[in-house]
Amino acid sequence: MYFEKTAGFPDDFLWGSASAAYQIEGADREDGKGISNWDEFVKIPGKTFKGTTGAVAVDFYHHYKEDIARMAEMGLKTYRFSIAWTRIYPQGNGKVNETGLAFYDNVINECLKYGIEPMVTIYHWDMPQALEDAYHGWENPQIIEDFVTYAVTLFERYGDRVKYWITMNEQNIFTSMGWMEGLHPPGKTDQLKLFYQVNHHANVAHARSVLELKKRFPHAMVGASFAFSPCYAIDCRPENAMAKADFDDLRNYWWLDIYGYGRYPKSAMKYLKSIDCAPDITADEMQDIRQAASLIDFMGVNYYQTAVAEYNDIYGVGANHEVNTTGEKGTAKISGVPGLYKNPANPYLKTTDWDWTIDPMGIRMCCRTITSRYDLPIIISENGLGAFDKLEEDKTIHDPYRIEYLRAHIAELKKAVADGCEVLAYCTWSCTDLLSWLNGYQKRYGFIYVEREEDDASATLNRYPKDSFHWYAEVIKTNGQNL
Ligand code: BG6
Repeated sequence: MYFEKTAGFPDDFLWGSASAAYQIEGADREDGKGISNWDEFVKIPGKTFKGTTGAVAVDFYHHYKEDIARMAEMGLKTYRFSIAWTRIYPQGNGKVNETGLAFYDNVINECLKYGIEPMVTIYHWDMPQALEDAYHGWENPQIIEDFVTYAVTLFERYGDRVKYWITMNEQNIFTSMGWMEGLHPPGKTDQLKLFYQVNHHANVAHARSVLELKKRFPHAMVGASFAFSPCYAIDCRPENAMAKADFDDLRNYWWLDIYGYGRYPKSAMKYLKSIDCAPDITADEMQDIRQAASLIDFMGVNYYQTAVAEYNDIYGVGANHEVNTTGEKGTAKISGVPGLYKNPANPYLKTTDWDWTIDPMGIRMCCRTITSRYDLPIIISENGLGAFDKLEEDKTIHDPYRIEYLRAHIAELKKAVADGCEVLAYCTWSCTDLLSWLNGYQKRYGFIYVEREEDDASATLNRYPKDSFHWYAEVIKTNGQNL
């Protein structure tokens, strides 16, 4: 829509940044922490860029006071971070680890000291390895009870201070990377039926956690964060428009409809049944999923890029088992589902060095879709640019490309607000540099440079604000007026 005058962001808008435990904390064997699936997976040669691991990461575990002080200096209103399940339950279930609980007490209290609203992600991909060993983690319905027990432990411990909860981070990504592309743990490929079963277990775990939270804290704000890639048909040929509809049902609404409506999209379910890949589901599970959908308070959106859909014939391209992890532009490959769609590059848009499409208007598209389809408030729980940064001799970092990326996205978000979308928060990815799961430390996302490369031995882990740090501080100070 076009409006001659707009009011801008609401006064209580939550400007923030986000991170994930595995990507920042390090201290992987300290204070009783158990081993996670990622701690194990990265040991497999060739899985991550230069064999990087989260053993040290950017050592947030020992730098959290310094990092949160920097967040306060920047003026952050919210900090979204995840809790490592293995610090709370080292074996995934059973005996709780008080030292782990106390660490997040400290993080939360440090945020509150500066008036920063803590936003907690319960699950950002680091599954206790003990549960993988015991029953293959998400593949087994037993995971639901263990997940909910873990979530309830967090609610009871932190619910007096934490208002915003995100149950799952990008369920669509960790499951497709884990069971279709073989790029995340457990490293399986083309397990379509299992992929949908695993997702169903995660949906039930999400739903039952929402119900448990609302029993204890009815005014808490809860939702899941979805990696939303709005999709454009490559042109107006009807078969390409249908390819887009298929993509949306299978790649977007399969999750969004569960969170927002408590049901699976009908055509997608019919298709999966026809190829014997639909998940086994029970009436009780669907009832809990429906009830949770009626209780969630926002849709969390991690927005990085849009997709393009083109009809893919039955002999066409299938899943992709490779991604660009080197930063050598132009090495990404097309993937698709034979008979339905494939996802070519968008010739109208530029890409990052890791071949991620840059499309600021996509963030507005996410908000518009969620608003018209689910009428839910929105939290942009991630948005950011992974780029090579250069630390100058005087320890400055000039990152105009990051400023430009964020500026353009926030400008589109502002338009979404003008369009009537109720956007509660915007979290950049990320505040400090961190470990990119597959891409090492050279793909940087932060406002604060952390002095380290792939090789742990040479790391000073010193922190230096980049130009974008000062720019974002001004954005926050002016509530998005000065972009
Ligand atoms: C999201 C994840 O998919 O994108 C983050 O929630 C991740 O954990 C971010 O780091 C960027 O992805 P990558 O692969 O560039 O690290």
